[in-house]
This record gives sequence, C-alpha cells and structure tokens, in this order.
Amino acid sequence: MGLNNLLEGVQTLAIVCNQWGDTGKGKFSDYFASQWADVTARGTGGNNAGHTVVVNGKEKIFHLIPAGISNDSSGKITILGNGMVIDIPVLFQEIDELDAEGVSYNNLMVSKDASVIMPYHVNQDKAKHQSQKEGGIGSTGRGIGPCYTDKVARRGILIEDLFDRDKLSRKINVAKGIYLEQMINSDEIIDRLMPFAERIKPFVRDTISEMHMFMREGKKILLEGAQGLLLSIEHGTYPYVTSSDCSLNGTASGVGISAKMVDLPLGIVKFPFMTRVGAGPFPTELGDIKSEAYCAEEGHTKIDELVRYNIPHQVTEKGFRYKNNDKKILEMINSDDEFIQGIGIRLAAGEYGATTGRPRRIGWTDAVVAKYAVGINGPFMILTKSDSISGADQFKLCYGYEDKDRIIGNFSRDERTLREISPEYKPYKGYEDISGVRSYDRLPISLRQAIGDFEDFTHGKVVVVSVGADREETIVR
Ligand code: IMP
Repeated sequence: MGLNNLLEGVQTLAIVCNQWGDTGKGKFSDYFASQWADVTARGTGGNNAGHTVVVNGKEKIFHLIPAGISNDSSGKITILGNGMVIDIPVLFQEIDELDAEGVSYNNLMVSKDASVIMPYHVNQDKAKHQSQKEGGIGSTGRGIGPCYTDKVARRGILIEDLFDRDKLSRKINVAKGIYLEQMINSDEIIDRLMPFAERIKPFVRDTISEMHMFMREGKKILLEGAQGLLLSIEHGTYPYVTSSDCSLNGTASGVGISAKMVDLPLGIVKFPFMTRVGAGPFPTELGDIKSEAYCAEEGHTKIDELVRYNIPHQVTEKGFRYKNNDKKILEMINSDDEFIQGIGIRLAAGEYGATTGRPRRIGWTDAVVAKYAVGINGPFMILTKSDSISGADQFKLCYGYEDKDRIIGNFSRDERTLREISPEYKPYKGYEDISGVRSYDRLPISLRQAIGDFEDFTHGKVVVVSVGADREETIVR
C-alpha cells in the first residue's frame, strides 16, 4: 500500500497517540500537512504538549501551534480548536518565533470558544502539593488541569471574553473566591492581557462553523492530536492523566466535528519500546519503580546521564552532541540490569521531554495497551522510533499480564492491578541500523515477525513504519 492508496477517498485524517504521548505526532502531522492537508486543526490540551518536527534538517518544537503552520505560505489553514486551553503570552512567544524564522501565519485561526489559561491556573498547577515528589501526579505545571477544571465548573474564561473587559473582570472576581491561597489582582491581570487581546483579535473565529464549511467544500482536513490515549481523562490511567480527552473522540469534538467523520484515524505507537512522563503505573517499565522514582527526581537530565555513564559527547550551542549508537550506549542497552537498559534506550532514542526536559521513563512496547487503544482509536497504526534500538541484541513485546496464577490479556485502568501484575514478554532477535530502509519488505525479518504478531494480538493494522525523524525516513506499507 503506497501513500496514494492509503489516502484514497480520505477527506479527514486524524493523528492520535495510542500510548502515553511523545510518540512522534509532530513528525506525522507535518508529514500529512505538507503533502496532503488543506487544513490542520488541533482540538485538545495546551502548551503541555511539545511537538518536535524536523524541517529541512532543522529541529523545531511547537507547543500550541500545530506543526502544519510551516505550510501557511501555500495557503494552508491552521486551527487552534474549541477544546484547547491557551496560554496567550505563550501563543505569542510562538508567533514571535515564527516571525523570527520567517514562517508566515496569515491563515492561523483561534477558536473564540477555546479556554484561556490564566496566571492563577499556572500558579495553582505549580503549587508544591501537586508535584510528583510530594505525591502529586507530576503535571507539566502549565496550568492545564486548573484551566479545564474551571471550564467544567462553568466559570472558565473563553477567548471571546478577552474582548469584554467587564465580563473578564467579573469572571476573575469569581476566581478570587476559588483560588484563595493566591493574591489575585484583576486589574493587574487584565492590564497585562489587554495588549495580547488586541493582537489575537484578527485570528479569532467561530472555528466550528469554519470547520463545517471546510468539510462541505471538500477540503482535506488533518486533526492533530495531543498527549496520548493513556493520558486521556476519559480512557487513561486515571488519576495519572491530563485533563482533556485526548482520544480520537476528544480530538474530533475539540474541533467541532464527530469522530464518525474521520475517515482515517491513525494511532501512533512507539515500537518496540515505549515511554511515559510523570507519575503513574507503567507495567513494562525497565527498572520498574526504581526508574519511576529516578525519573521523578530533578537533575537527571540528558547531560547528567551522559556524564554519569561516561558517554563521549560535545557541548555545542544547540545542546549536546553524542553518537546515539556509541559503544557504551549499546553496552547499556544490552545490559542485564533493566534499569541501566532503560537509560541506554533513553540515550539512544533521545527520550527527554520536549516541553520540560524531564527524562522519559522507558519500557518495552505493551501490546495489551495497544489492543485497548485499537478498540477506542480504531485499527490503523503508525509505528515510530523502530530505528532507535538498532544494535540491541534482542527486544521484547508484552502480550499479557501475569496476575497471581492467571494471565490477563485485556488492559485495566486500575492502578493497583497495573502495579501488581508482571508483563509476559516474547523476545525477538535484535537488528542492525534500519534508518536507510524505505520498503517494508527490506525490514529485518525479526522486526516484521514482531509486527505481524503485534497486529494479530491487537486486531490492528500497521500502515506506516517510521525509521527516523525526517519526513523521508518513512515506510508506507
Ligand atoms: P498536565 O497535562 O500538565 O496536567 O500533566 C498531566 C500528566 O500528563 C503528567 O503526567 C504529564 O507528564 C503528562 N503529560 C501532559 N502532556 C504531555 C505530553 O505532551 N506528553 C507526555 N506526557 C504529557
């Protein structure tokens, strides 16, 4: 199946994540936006997301604006939808960065119905008792949870409220009665927001009506998901989740359409290893609770790990340069100590938060999770990062959970169950560098065997395998 076959008859396509986020949605949003979509729309979350996109060999990280913006100059439309939560100064930081890069944003639209993240939301989210170290869920501290809380409690501030000073003032006064620990000064907040309100005005639209019109006009529409299914407030490992429904359903309703209208939902799966950021159960985590605690501690950054494990590296203006397949890193990946193995994969795959820089927790890909995701986001999957563990002697996939004397084959959201079970693995032979492979049949036999087993178990269908960060490093099956 080539790209044309895959996209035949498709008007609406969604890119969502079938794990705990950070699976490479940015690459695929960019991939389809650049060569296919007329409109790219995002419907959930805010600047808790971080999408890394490589354009002309240059890495860019977007937090709010969908990766499709880089196609603005060819008349393509980019939408921040009604389901999003928007920190206005952060939005303008990104717009200023676009200016600096010479990327236009003439066709950017911001929903009048999106929610505004206020400074008191950020303060609330950063309060000590929320932190992972203090037993909280370890949010990104961007004010996402408090902002959605206000939305659900029907007292939130919407983008359109920015243009009505009295209404804004009334709503901030309500917040004063909620966030009692904070000294909220409404005049000060409004004075700070007003210049941004003027700047945002030209972009503000009834994006739901616009979307409906685009659908009627036959425009090709790309929905860009945020976070991942297992972080969804509805379907994730509650309470260790974000505050939006980042499934296909939430992504569609967040831009004002039904999931039924999405012709091709594509769920991204990191394969054969996966990651999680922040607290919460992760059955296949390499190094188990030791890794969870280690990743929660401050200071375990990429440079710390490079130094600590004696990996040769150079410090450059852009960060740290090192060989992902350095001999020492490969030794770590092949270590008998799973904790060390996890760090080796993290270094090889560069798994450090795009938004927070935190080390991502590492584990083998869990087919039980993927089967659950197929049931919600649909059967079609994109596998990413398969090139990152080139050189490993072997890799494993999890096809069940052993709970006392029985094997569970279905996912459970229950924390206790997820923490008490032990994963049932099937090992596969490792493979050498695959980043130059461009056809499915040329992938190593053990990888194809693993993909076949994975499809059988999950009832899913792998349609794309990504073997590198660049657009070209993509195999459409
Ligand atoms: P919040 O979305 O900032 O409230 O964070 C809630 C949980 O979701 C935390 O465990 C975060 O680490 C996680 N999270 C939020 N956004 C992302 C993301 O884009 N990628 C991965 N994890 C995320």
